[in-house]
Amino acid sequence: MCGIVGYIGDTVAAPVIFESLKRLEYRGYDSYGFATLHNNEFFVKKDKGKISDASFESFPEMLPGFMGVGHSRWATHGIPSEENSHPHLDCKGNFLVVHNGIIENYQELKSELKRNGHTFKSDTDTEIIPHLIEEFAELGFEEAVKEAVGRLKGRYAIVALSRNSDKMIGVRRGSPLIVGIKDSDKREYFLASDIPAFLDHTNNVMYLDDDEMVIIDKNKRSIKFHNLEGKEDVEKRLINIGWEAGQAEKNGFEHFMLKEIMEQKDTIMRALSQDEKSIESMAKEINNAFGTFFTGCGTAGNVCLAGEYIFSKVAGKHINFTVSSEFPNYHHFLTDRTLLIAVSQSGETADVLEAIESAKKKGVKIISLVNVMGSSLDRKSDYSFLINAGPEKAVASTKAATSQLALITLLAYACAGKLNEGKRLLIETASKVNDMLNPRYEKHIRRLAKKIHRKDNLYIIGRSLNYPMALESAIKIQEVSYIHAQGFAGGELKHGPLALIDKGTPCIALVAEDEVKNDVISNAMEIKSRGGYIIGVAPENNEVFDYWIRVPDVGDASPIVNIIPVQILAYHLAVLRGCNPDYPKNLAKSVTVK
Ligand code: M6R
Repeated sequence: MCGIVGYIGDTVAAPVIFESLKRLEYRGYDSYGFATLHNNEFFVKKDKGKISDASFESFPEMLPGFMGVGHSRWATHGIPSEENSHPHLDCKGNFLVVHNGIIENYQELKSELKRNGHTFKSDTDTEIIPHLIEEFAELGFEEAVKEAVGRLKGRYAIVALSRNSDKMIGVRRGSPLIVGIKDSDKREYFLASDIPAFLDHTNNVMYLDDDEMVIIDKNKRSIKFHNLEGKEDVEKRLINIGWEAGQAEKNGFEHFMLKEIMEQKDTIMRALSQDEKSIESMAKEINNAFGTFFTGCGTAGNVCLAGEYIFSKVAGKHINFTVSSEFPNYHHFLTDRTLLIAVSQSGETADVLEAIESAKKKGVKIISLVNVMGSSLDRKSDYSFLINAGPEKAVASTKAATSQLALITLLAYACAGKLNEGKRLLIETASKVNDMLNPRYEKHIRRLAKKIHRKDNLYIIGRSLNYPMALESAIKIQEVSYIHAQGFAGGELKHGPLALIDKGTPCIALVAEDEVKNDVISNAMEIKSRGGYIIGVAPENNEVFDYWIRVPDVGDASPIVNIIPVQILAYHLAVLRGCNPDYPKNLAKSVTVK
């Protein structure tokens, strides 16, 4: 949801910001803007559209200077347009701000500022911030920003510049903001919503916590952190996050989505490289808790639902899943003996953070499964497991989902006192995924995509562990190909959805060699009898399948291998329908608004 960047260094800032913004485009891509500060003058360029479609050849002339900010927008208040693109300025053009998040009380502040004589050029909530800074200008830049943000309600990260100062100020409350530090001759500083923005330059970072302000001084090349509640000079550690620049590049693939699907050859194994003692002790926590919940959103939510089935089957334990946006409405029976397991790739999803915050108020212990080290969820949890999938940039979550599934399965086996058995199963699964992901397999799925890419509707059925994967298949297909796709529990068909089946309607049946196999096959038969075109994702062929995609038989790890061919299918459906799978319309990678 919007990407923001800031840069101070010895290199002309605009090209650095331009490249950083392109790397953050997955966070929002309906408009962009950037600004530099040179000789007490702002140079601003903004436009509607994607930053990757823009090209600039004369940066130093157009946007001179060695410090500046950039923004890639996912519209919340106001249509995508040049006026609504960030940065936004105050009346006199003295202060400039880029922002990610939502200012909940912007209407009342805007009315107040208008009464005080301020004029506004955009429909955004953001524009009130530079005007508020202007209101307090006589206090000096730092104090003015502090006073201004003191008036804001909501979740946000901002970066602000003043025409009359060589300082860049960032503030964080609920939305991510990270500092990258490169030690060259003189230190170079980066501020960004996410690490890939500056990974080309450095992987050494400092994290801002909520209600903290960072002040970077271009002349002194110094950095200091303040707590907004008044405590000056908060100490920060420089952390090496271990990611390499190449991990956030396409590396020869046409799209990040396909690259990330193919990376599952390795990422499942990486998810398993956990400290055994931590797994065992977490299993003990789960076994001793008085009620354990899973929470997550979208794909991570479907993984949680699969986790509910896996824990039930493998460990005989009931873990309740609630989508994060509903979790705060479901808190009445939480106690300090409850455990909440939050699953999130980014660790920045606002709904997930709200869910854990509401649970924490009741003394609930939080365990998280998260991909991004140092993310809000990682830092706010009592214990967090990193899934080690590396940067996931395509909006559609693929490798993170299978890594989360692998880790949840491992935890379930540990709870059942069978950690080694679980490990063996998952290592074998990883090796079978490695065999699956070959060019012939992909071609076979692309052939299917060619047959069905003009269809308007597509349905997916599964039972037991694979029912959540039917839901996940639907998300994958919807979000990148815009085909109307819906997933059902096989047994639910006869209660309504069967009425949707016409001659040739494609239906995917997710099958495993388990106790519900025959029931899913019977459901596929029911669809076929009404004219449906049956795509079987299964270890064995069956006469009911019109098209068979083989998957290995991996027992309780079947959700991992069954979702992968659907990810590949979703990708090819998108490409054949002329959609860019990396940038689905209306969506953004990390959803940092409620
Ligand atoms: O970063 P998170 O895992 O918390 O994100 C949750 C969802 O927004 C995410 O899974 C979304 O549903 C994906 N676009 C699905 O592919």
